[in-house]
Amino acid sequence: MKWRQYPEDVLPVWVAEMDVATPEPVAAALVDAVRRGDTGYPLGDSYAEALGGFAVRRWGWDGVVAERAAIVPDVMLGVVEMLKLVTGPGDPVVVNPPVYPPFFDFVAHMDREVVEAPLGGDGRIDFGVMEAVFGRLAGEGRRGAFLLCNPQNPTGAVYTREELERVAELTAAFGVRVVSDEIHAPLVAAGEKFTPYLSVAGAEDGLTLMSASKGWNLAGLKAAVAIAGPASAVDLARMPEEVGHGPSHLGVIAHVAALREGGAWLDALLAGLDENRVLLGRLLAEYLPGVVWRPGPGTYLQWLDCRSLGLGDDPAQVFLERGRVAVNSGIPFGSGGAGHVRINIATSPAILTEAVERMATAVASVR
Ligand SMILES: Cc1ncc(COP(=O)(O)O)c(C=O)c1O
Repeated sequence: MKWRQYPEDVLPVWVAEMDVATPEPVAAALVDAVRRGDTGYPLGDSYAEALGGFAVRRWGWDGVVAERAAIVPDVMLGVVEMLKLVTGPGDPVVVNPPVYPPFFDFVAHMDREVVEAPLGGDGRIDFGVMEAVFGRLAGEGRRGAFLLCNPQNPTGAVYTREELERVAELTAAFGVRVVSDEIHAPLVAAGEKFTPYLSVAGAEDGLTLMSASKGWNLAGLKAAVAIAGPASAVDLARMPEEVGHGPSHLGVIAHVAALREGGAWLDALLAGLDENRVLLGRLLAEYLPGVVWRPGPGTYLQWLDCRSLGLGDDPAQVFLERGRVAVNSGIPFGSGGAGHVRINIATSPAILTEAVERMATAVASVR
């Protein structure tokens, strides 16, 4: 999608795809399956087991167990299925904008009401806002769910155990269920700590979605895992069996290979992303000093506040038209998105450099 959406003269640094070679263990597992003719439907616990091993090795967390996990077609369809388990038609689903735009689209499409509890200026959950929103809903006799994004796309915030415990406490106080999208969990910078929501005190009735699709660039090989806590296993058990027919069998094979054997590849990737974060800082200082950027340790997506550049509410449009560089517009990310863009640094230093140069050219052409 990244390289196909725009004409050839546009440099794409937008959608969450990485410019990387497929991890060798993934390629080998896929070729092997295709050669064997192993191209039918998915079945079994291999994904949950591989994810469980990865979670223990990376995060010291043993909470992914096959009895409380189920494969789903991808993370967003998993989010929809989890929300269906814990909410009814018309119920509110609270999100923290700016946030991954499909959170709005998928929730609205399933006949739930998206309710915004905007992040604070630091790009993290604002608990005062959350309490006010849950309180207002409770006053209307409504509860619903909270759709958490951890690490947060697009701010890169990685929530601490303390923050997640506050989420658990606050949602419990208002009878709100938590669905946590943790697709970016493997993409947390070395030296920083990712905390799975289900691993914190009070989160026992949460539901989480995880996947290898972002960490190893496997979005075209559809699969993800839904994980329940001890108190939500009964909810997950109600997920219709046919949902588990939706993931791609080859997707499951690819994700399992990544989780089991892709550790070294991931470490090299994270080292490269660290270098690109530093590079982006240098490039912005040199070419676009008016841009405000607070780098977070999670994801390769970077959120740039371009409001001082004088490009209006949708700088991405100006960058595209005048600089021939495609970044994501901030507007679909909800409140707080106007005047912002999201740039993807999971590319070569040369492409990242050219992207920022093109953005600067666009700004110069407006002045
Ligand atoms: C927070 C978040 N959730 C979900 C997805 C999409 O995942 P999937 O393709 O598995 O639905 C993305 C993709 O960028 C994402 O950033």
